[in-house]
Amino acid sequence: MRLTFTIQRYNPETDAHQHEEQFRLDVGRGMTVLESLIRIKNEQDGTLSLRYSCRSAICGSCAMEINGAEKLACRTTVRRELERHGQIAVAPLKNLPVIKDLVVDMSSFWGKVLDVTPWLSSTSPASAAHPGDPMRLLPGSYQFHNVDACIMCGACVAACTSHEVSKGFLGPAALAKAERFMADPREPETAKRRRLVELDQENGIWDCVRCNFCVQVCPKDVKPMEAIIRLRRRAIESGLVSSGGARHITGFSEIVQQEGRLNEARMPLKIVGFSLKRLLRLLPLGLKMLLKGKVPNPLAPPIPGIAQVRSIFGVARRRAAGS
Ligand code: SF4
Ligand code: SF4
Ligand code: FES
Repeated sequence: MRLTFTIQRYNPETDAHQHEEQFRLDVGRGMTVLESLIRIKNEQDGTLSLRYSCRSAICGSCAMEINGAEKLACRTTVRRELERHGQIAVAPLKNLPVIKDLVVDMSSFWGKVLDVTPWLSSTSPASAAHPGDPMRLLPGSYQFHNVDACIMCGACVAACTSHEVSKGFLGPAALAKAERFMADPREPETAKRRRLVELDQENGIWDCVRCNFCVQVCPKDVKPMEAIIRLRRRAIESGLVSSGGARHITGFSEIVQQEGRLNEARMPLKIVGFSLKRLLRLLPLGLKMLLKGKVPNPLAPPIPGIAQVRSIFGVARRRAAGS
């Protein structure tokens, strides 16, 4: 069948902006988007730039936006895209600077992965766990939750809502990588604590807004958001509870436990404490909520059946403690 491919083009030497170009191509059943792009490059326009290597969903280099979603071009069939969208539109990954056409600059991506120290601490005293062979991971001694399957394609970063507005955010891939080392039994507890303290800072684990897009687009089922949630849990359990994010979570659950529902009027104090400066910053939002009738009575009594809510919290606590 003969199809039209709409490809976003950009040549920094001649173009002021990105623009779309269309190419017509005869494609066979089962052809992938990557195969189609390579043929367009070989047969119609040799200046088309794209990145690829393994063609087997292993190297992660062909990630791009296909019909509005981040995908690996080498494992996306033209037929499936046509069935779902009725067209083939290809663009470079978002949230990363475009170098040319479909090629993006991954420097910031790799910089953030490096920022989480993606290797074991050199002072690892893991020999205590495995005296004969300190760096050997024994079967059953670890649970990486599939984060080690990441191929560093960058699709999650391109889809990340938080990264879109905060370029400093470490992002889903780097945080998933960080969690992999937190889960490694060879890493000493002191080093894990150091890692957690760093991840607890601005641009770290609390900057994720839990939109789930990274989970949806990941071609390797890494589920970065879940890795971030595990990191948050570890941070709170290890006493790192002073960040705004941690205070939000602990304050939220305290209020629900006390009243059986969220009371927004009490949340600001839970999150920012008695800091006058920070409370004043929240004042305009509070006034707007008040005018729209969104501020409940801060002294509201607990809901009927509060005992049941509290018993749910009790069960959750016992389960978390493993009893
Ligand atoms: S869940 Fe968090 S890390 Fe994942 S895409 Fe959304 S904001 Fe980014
Ligand atoms: S977590 Fe998934 S989407 Fe993100 S870089 Fe790794 S493989 Fe790609
Ligand atoms: S070319 Fe390697 S993942 Fe697609």
